[in-house]
Amino acid sequence: MRVFVADHPLITHKLTVLRDKNTAQPTFRSLTEELMTLLAYEATRDVSVTPIEIETPVARTTGVRLSTPAPLVVPILRAGLGMLEGMVKMIPTAEVGFLGMARDEETLLPTTYAERLPERLEGRQCFVLDPMLATGGSLAAAIDFLFARGAEDVTAICILGTPEGVDTIRNAVGDRNVTLFLGALDEGLDEHAFIVPGLGDAGDRLYGTNT
Ligand code: PRP
Repeated sequence: MRVFVADHPLITHKLTVLRDKNTAQPTFRSLTEELMTLLAYEATRDVSVTPIEIETPVARTTGVRLSTPAPLVVPILRAGLGMLEGMVKMIPTAEVGFLGMARDEETLLPTTYAERLPERLEGRQCFVLDPMLATGGSLAAAIDFLFARGAEDVTAICILGTPEGVDTIRNAVGDRNVTLFLGALDEGLDEHAFIVPGLGDAGDRLYGTNT
């Protein structure tokens, strides 16, 4: 598994505002989207492209276009939905599949409560979006789900991760073709398995606490 941690002052700047507990919900939402466009730019370095020939007004030249089938973007509900617009702004032709997962607050184990994905994923580059990689249970289950459908190339993009979460994903994926891209690698987990220093509960800060 390849692991990358963003290293760009604009990303760190926006992340600092997201972390601030005084940042209000509307700002949190719009900043998550903005931050995601920056992360998407960095995390799509290996997006699959095909060479093409075109004519400019002056001469013939070669360029590239995104390969087909188009990449599949999979936000993990709820919080991953906050990252979706930022991602599809960068890849407007991407298709979108959905996975709904919730972490049980006592056992910390994830359950899958919704799924709308293509039946077969062979030959598709898949990009999974989830802001928080805490224990890693949710993301590991999501990646397993995609490989069970035939995926061969999965990139997971998280705004924050922990060393524990990275280890969980590394052990879960083995030698499968997975790239993990993090906006920042935080210190670790507290006794409630919240990321420290983190930004709190991304789902609640995006969409409220009434679920
Ligand atoms: C949060 C977060 C991740 C997961 C991370 O979602 O968005 O999906 O927990 O925890 P883990 O790495 O320990 O599995 P939550 O279950 O709170 O659902 P939500 O997005 O609907 O708020």
